[in-house]
Amino acid sequence: MMIDLHSHILPGADDGASSMDMALSMLEAAASCGVRKIAATVHCNIPGRNSNYYTEALAQKFRLLQDNIKDAEIPIELLPGMEVFANSDVPELLKKGKLLTLNCTKYLLMEFGFNESVPFTFSIIQELISMGCVPVVAHPERYPFVQRDPNIVFEWMRIGACTQINKGSLLGRFGTSVGETAMQLLQHDMATIIASDAHDTHSRTTCMKDSYEYVQSIFGDDYAQVLFFENPRRIITDTTVLSNGPMPI
Ligand SMILES: [Fe+2]
Repeated sequence: MMIDLHSHILPGADDGASSMDMALSMLEAAASCGVRKIAATVHCNIPGRNSNYYTEALAQKFRLLQDNIKDAEIPIELLPGMEVFANSDVPELLKKGKLLTLNCTKYLLMEFGFNESVPFTFSIIQELISMGCVPVVAHPERYPFVQRDPNIVFEWMRIGACTQINKGSLLGRFGTSVGETAMQLLQHDMATIIASDAHDTHSRTTCMKDSYEYVQSIFGDDYAQVLFFENPRRIITDTTVLSNGPMPI
């Protein structure tokens, strides 16, 4: 069962699905590619853009989409989550219950600013881990500081973080450097899961089929299963993910 743990599917909540119709089309496309569970990871805590902290209003948007999925008879389960922008407020926000982890487990999907200071990335990961939280760093291959030195990801994982690679990165959607970095991370066991990071129906879609087949053709069945099926399943059931242990590049 394919599980997609990164999508911007809640209508009107961020720069993802702009209407209920679009959200349902995205979900239908996901289901027809074999995705059976999808996390609605709204952008959260982005200064000046999306706050989207956990409130009753956000919970209502989630329930409304769930009801529409049921009415449209789409065979997919919606899971709670957020893509939290990492800044020094995150530990406090987490303590106050303002953030939603992936399916309310210890795993928190978190993104960095594209020009974030590398020492900050380590200090925030360390602090969250000391609180019993496991940061899942969204699309590390897209950060210029990771492209310059992919072993930063090795160090993040060594202290206990997980990583989520974007399916589009592997297929060249974000350019050569991002694609090459994504491949390096996969080759060196620095990928925990692959997810869509879907925003719409035409460009950044929910379809996981091409990227699954691509990973399967290069790395084989077992690794593809771990990245698209088994580790996402372990995350949403709050159990330890599989890893051969990252290898430095
Ligand atoms: Fe995202």
